[in-house]
Amino acid sequence: MPYRDMRDYLAVLEQQNLLKRITHGVDHNWEVACLAKWMYQALPVEERFGFYFQNVKGTKIPVVTGALGGSPKSVAVALQCEVPEINVKVSNALRHTHKPKLVNSGVCQEVVFTGQQARLDSLPIVTWTPGKDKAPYLTTIVVTRDHDTEIPNMGVYRTMVGGPRSVVINLRRGRQGFRNVKTWTDKGKTAPIAWVIATEPAIHLATVANLPYGKDEMEFAGGLKGEPIDLVRCKTNDLHVPAMAEIIIEGEIAPGDVDTEGPFGEFAGYMGPVDKRPMAKITAITHRRDPIFYGYTSQMPPSESTTIQSLVNAGVILQMMRDKIGDQAVHDVWIDLTFGGMLGHGVVAITPQFPGHGKRVGRTIADITSLKRVTVVDADIDIRDPTHVDWAINSRFSPQRDTVVIDDCHVSIETDPSLRDARGNVMPGSKLVLDATEKIDSGPFSLPPKDMMMKALDVWKDCGLAEFKIPKRAKLRLEKS
Ligand SMILES: Cc1cc2nc3c(=O)[nH]c(=O)nc-3n(C[C@H](O)[C@H](O)[C@H](O)COP(=O)(O)O)c2cc1C
Repeated sequence: MPYRDMRDYLAVLEQQNLLKRITHGVDHNWEVACLAKWMYQALPVEERFGFYFQNVKGTKIPVVTGALGGSPKSVAVALQCEVPEINVKVSNALRHTHKPKLVNSGVCQEVVFTGQQARLDSLPIVTWTPGKDKAPYLTTIVVTRDHDTEIPNMGVYRTMVGGPRSVVINLRRGRQGFRNVKTWTDKGKTAPIAWVIATEPAIHLATVANLPYGKDEMEFAGGLKGEPIDLVRCKTNDLHVPAMAEIIIEGEIAPGDVDTEGPFGEFAGYMGPVDKRPMAKITAITHRRDPIFYGYTSQMPPSESTTIQSLVNAGVILQMMRDKIGDQAVHDVWIDLTFGGMLGHGVVAITPQFPGHGKRVGRTIADITSLKRVTVVDADIDIRDPTHVDWAINSRFSPQRDTVVIDDCHVSIETDPSLRDARGNVMPGSKLVLDATEKIDSGPFSLPPKDMMMKALDVWKDCGLAEFKIPKRAKLRLEKS
């Protein structure tokens, strides 16, 4: 059975010890963020968990963070599969989408505040880099719609609290949410906008997929969930939002309304620049009778944001390469979890069909995504194991022959400090492709034959040595030994 809402999912995470309830009172102005930072900065990925802060000072509303993106395991639980199946799950969901269903009512509107009563200070909005951020901000799903095509879009865009009924949204030129808003404001109309806080995990994960403009992420979310998503109409605008969400904030952006946003702690690990961004007026806040607040932990990597964006977009790239580009030699894709998802390092496993195939795949992926680095390896490498990928680079890659630098390609991320000059201007970005596939048959591996190694495991046990799980890297090597 798919999860009906965020609560269903949190219950399963808790059963699996991937979510911890904190009864100790915490302050959302600093303690929530600092505890979440310790979790990501100190614990190895397999020990990470989400936080359910039950007792948040000054509010009855609990705060959750790190639940979806605690680790790949939490994402697998969200998708009701195992970690190695995440790419397949994402690819299949893109192939079999479900159009959402408009329903008459939803729990997200059990309590409705409009006009002067819709106040952001009624919510425990977290300060994510306390001591350095300008203000608290929302990190959650943002819904907009194209005025002309009426196709909606979902993305996560940092939303700074400006006052009790106003926000400034980190909507940058080129972002699909920005394009949607422009289709209204260019005509002199106010653009509708809505924020969705804590809903079915499939919707959260679909939102961070980098899909082409005009593809409705809610249909992809239906594919991930395995059934159409129920939506309700907002109370003060025409947008449709998930019926099962905990909290919905509704707003409008008037033409020309901008304000200063930042500085804020950024995904690249530094404080980001200050700039003018669109402002929105809040027109309504609706929620369940006893709502839960959710905010993603981002900023210094690794983080929840790097985890969910990397895992979902690896599946998106795999499906693109196989179904759209038609290259069936591409087996698997992994994006390193320690940077900003699509902006970081992608590793691709292929079975090369001709000389130069590795470079071609690497170049294509670099071109059609915003990844900065693409490493291509053979299918006998565990792309999720950095030591195995490094071995492929050391033994199968010759820098002069196998490197491609793609120069002057625009990646609109002024938050990447390596793209800024001393005056803060953003320089054109470049990309690196490493083809670490074997170019010639390098001969047999320097390991004893597989049957001898397996027999030696009995001797290992007889010696009283501690048992271990054979790593995938070793299994792949033994297959060829
Ligand atoms: C926690 C978190 C915060 C994010 N903040 C921003 C942001 O402030 N601005 C932005 O452009 N993208 C941000 N992103 C990335 C986008 O949400 C993501 O790339 C999304 O797919 C963009 O949607 P779009 O391609 O429809 O514009 C954030 C992602 C996460 C998970």
